[in-house]
Amino acid sequence: MPAPAKLFLASSNRGKLSEYRMLAMASGVSLAVELALLLGLDKLPEFEENAPTFAENAAGKALHYSRLWDGLVFADDSGLVVPALGGAPGVHSARYAGPRATNSQRIEKLLGEMRGKTGAERAAYFVCAIALTEHGRAKAIVTDRVEGEILEAPRGSGGFGYDPVFYFPALGKTFAEIPAEEKNQRSHRGKAFRRLLSSLSSML
Ligand code: IMP
Repeated sequence: MPAPAKLFLASSNRGKLSEYRMLAMASGVSLAVELALLLGLDKLPEFEENAPTFAENAAGKALHYSRLWDGLVFADDSGLVVPALGGAPGVHSARYAGPRATNSQRIEKLLGEMRGKTGAERAAYFVCAIALTEHGRAKAIVTDRVEGEILEAPRGSGGFGYDPVFYFPALGKTFAEIPAEEKNQRSHRGKAFRRLLSSLSSML
């Protein structure tokens, strides 16, 4: 049996690593992968994630760290896009309500901006871009999205971030009301990572 492909995630977030491991197991792509954090990332020169697009941020981050680290390095960028708000929160999703704000404060700000918006104006989607790089070269950049609507009040206690106000019509529930396995199948991150693994499997 061939050795699994080892991919290093350019993040120091263990939660994110666990999520990607779950996604890899449930991907349905017949490629053995082993995922690990890029150790000591906090001691390497930092990458400033301030590009205007998710793809640019993901690619920039992965390329930056792959110049400093041997092997396959991947990085992601994701967020919520509301076309009726000109694309906000977009690439600023994490700091939408300030650098130290909580998830509830971000949701509160979003619901405030959405006040008075009805019907199609409440459409929104999550986007995830993932870049796979090696020695300063991009091997693949994938992006995917999941469409939904912003509710007027939060519902559910699962998930994270904007999940309690992100209503997914196909299931009639918010992302905070569905089990993690179901979200992984449907989410922007799940879909983008499956794309990445299938493009990697066609390269090996
Ligand atoms: P990052 O890609 O980890 O930097 O995520 C950016 C921000 O987008 C997060 O802090 C969340 O606020 C938001 N976000 C990204 N993905 C999701 C999701 O699946 N559910 C809810 N919020 C998300």
